[in-house]
Amino acid sequence: FVQLSFAVGTSGSHAHLFSNEVSNISFPNGFMWGYASAAYQVEGGWDADGKGESIWDYDAHNHANWFPAGQNGDVACDAYHKTEEDVGLLVHQGVNTYRFSIAWSRVLPTGRIDNINQAGIDYYKDLIKRLKENNIEPLVTMHHWDNPRAIEDDGGFLNASVFIPAFVDYATLLFEQFGDDVKWWITFNEPKQICGGGYDYGGFSPQTLSSGRGGYICAHNLLKAHAKVYRVYDEKYRTKQNGKISMVIDESWNEPASNSSADIEASERVNLMTYGWFAHPIVYGDYPEIMRTRIDKRSAQQGLSESRLPVFTEEEKSELKGSYDYLSVNMYTTVLAAATQDFPIDQISYGADISVNTYQPDDWERTAADWFRVVPWGARHLVRWIAQTYGDKKGIIVTENGYTDNGEVLDDLDTRGRFHKMYLSNLNDVIYKDGVNLIGYMAWSLMNDVEWYAGWLTNLGHYHVDFNSENRTRTAKASASYYKHIVTTNCLLD
Ligand code: NOJ
Repeated sequence: FVQLSFAVGTSGSHAHLFSNEVSNISFPNGFMWGYASAAYQVEGGWDADGKGESIWDYDAHNHANWFPAGQNGDVACDAYHKTEEDVGLLVHQGVNTYRFSIAWSRVLPTGRIDNINQAGIDYYKDLIKRLKENNIEPLVTMHHWDNPRAIEDDGGFLNASVFIPAFVDYATLLFEQFGDDVKWWITFNEPKQICGGGYDYGGFSPQTLSSGRGGYICAHNLLKAHAKVYRVYDEKYRTKQNGKISMVIDESWNEPASNSSADIEASERVNLMTYGWFAHPIVYGDYPEIMRTRIDKRSAQQGLSESRLPVFTEEEKSELKGSYDYLSVNMYTTVLAAATQDFPIDQISYGADISVNTYQPDDWERTAADWFRVVPWGARHLVRWIAQTYGDKKGIIVTENGYTDNGEVLDDLDTRGRFHKMYLSNLNDVIYKDGVNLIGYMAWSLMNDVEWYAGWLTNLGHYHVDFNSENRTRTAKASASYYKHIVTTNCLLD
């Protein structure tokens, strides 16, 4: 998880008047409390029992410095061999929801439907069964960044004719195999990171970079794949299985740096061109108008015969429109957005298309990750903005939120514990003071895991994992009992 690298900013002190106060407050009945995780980060067993290679396996094995020395997802937390133990931890924590991802290459080693790996299916069947037996609702991500290598060899997200049908086949298989038990689905996790980081500004596998173009093509194909999967569910599975599908979109809230109309406009523009890049199409059927206008204009000024932002056909628009059953957001931090002159026209990139100066003031509380400051009030502003811009009738879930440190601190009540408390207090205000239909909260994460690029040098878990022991021993941190207290009382107490 990296912050968008278009942010070129000067930081300075910024006095904010927003409250970080905590009140003693309860959450709505039936609120979804859970943990989130991803296959590559916890499972290990990277080639066990017929699993195929993913792009993260490939990059970790073939590029020096992809991860810190000796760290990668080959064994990770060894969750692949610890289903019983880990479901036990979830039960102990009292959560009613567990968000995890299925590794595409574990069930389809080459990404194609003609080669199903039964051992992979069995692994997830067993996990889902154990969750259900304990009244824990599975919230399942189909794609958390780990494209099968064989799909990437054929162009990955850039090749619509390979990617879209393969992904639809994969999703159909998941509905067939697991849809009777899984009622909450996520097609893609953090598409902005997949497409921006993977195909535009860099920082993510597969690093097939084509500045100012690759990210948009990736997003276009990803959105089309999402819509197709949604419509397949409508046609073949919805009546029988009655589940819900969405896409998980991440966002750092972009707060106007001042109350000038230029900064307010800049903040709205960057929110629309980041969160809205994906939310707009699935809610309204097309990219935000501001995104279309700016990229079309810059492309013309750059002498290109067609816009770098692809265009949906009418049929695609109608497939996309309304292709979600709830909204979601992965949220960690906030930046300030200041208006600036449009970036020079010879800068052909996603960031230059947005042309907003984003930064974090020096006096905002730091965490172990550079991009990530503790800004609880930003959570309220972000969720309220999502509700105002996209509606909240279908419900909004915070699908990730958590605090990063070096992963070794067990007494993390004043850091991670306080973080959850303050963010949750602001989210409670969103529900009761702003009247937003927020229906769930997933902490990232149950346990320390393999953080993208950082390995286990920085981490966010409520359980420590001993990555030096073969057993990968899990030990509760103070935040685990604090979070357990919140979810089991459904109340935020001092
Ligand atoms: C977002 C990603 O979805 C997740 O995989 C990652 O570990 C967390 N953010 C923390 O950086």
